[in-house]
Amino acid sequence: MSPTSRAGSPPEVGVLLPAAGQGERAGAGELKQFRPIRGVPMLLRAVRPFAQHPRVRQIVVALPPEFAARPPVWLKDLIGERLQVVAGGATRPESVAQALERLHPACRIVLVHDAARPFVGGDTIDAVIAAAETGSGAVAAVPVGDTLKQVDAAGERVKETVDRRGLWRAQTPQGFPRPMLDAAYAQLGPLRAGERVPSDDAEVCERAGFPVELVPDSPQNIKVTTADDFRIAEALARELR
Ligand code: CTP
Ligand code: MG
Repeated sequence: MSPTSRAGSPPEVGVLLPAAGQGERAGAGELKQFRPIRGVPMLLRAVRPFAQHPRVRQIVVALPPEFAARPPVWLKDLIGERLQVVAGGATRPESVAQALERLHPACRIVLVHDAARPFVGGDTIDAVIAAAETGSGAVAAVPVGDTLKQVDAAGERVKETVDRRGLWRAQTPQGFPRPMLDAAYAQLGPLRAGERVPSDDAEVCERAGFPVELVPDSPQNIKVTTADDFRIAEALARELR
């Protein structure tokens, strides 16, 4: 049975926004996710397309604990029945797990979107929801265009050139049927010493054995990581909105 058929109306969508990182690679200054891009805080740009989406019932934003206790005023204005703030954890999966706990049980489809992606398109959100509704995990992704080099342990000498055919860059949003994401995070548990932290939610689901599909996305949906990325983001914002 498809998730839509029982009630006749499509399942409600919940959105988790991990925004609890320290933004170390973006350098000193205002926290990366609060830094303005053409005057609009990056986190606000990341939230808006979901806040405006008719299928979205609830949005949970994970912030660094000190900011969860005292959110910036532009975010405080949005907090209410539809948007809540929780304290995130030391790693991204811990932040997502904290947000997931706050999600209303009626949200049968869950989207996860990085606060560091301020330019997600409505068409991508729709496509990720549609793919998750088929029962699979869904990842917005872009085919790799660059030539990839595998280097030695010292990171200095090229060992080989990697065949990029079949390689995609995973972006967000990523969408999941609620039972899948709940089960995958329950199975993840605390990470062992030396174990690599899963870098996205699809990886958490893959480790639990769930199927994950790619949804072709636009390279415009960039992730802002470094100070240089903010310059690119400023230019994109001038062009877009
Ligand atoms: N994130 C989070 N909780 C953490 C770490 C990261 O919610 N403990 C969020 C970030 O706020 C960001 C997303 O996960 O929206 C992707 O992480 P990244 O771009 O790496 O941001 P930071 O971890 O803040 O940056 P850096 O790794 O440079 O410190
Ligand atoms: Mg990080």
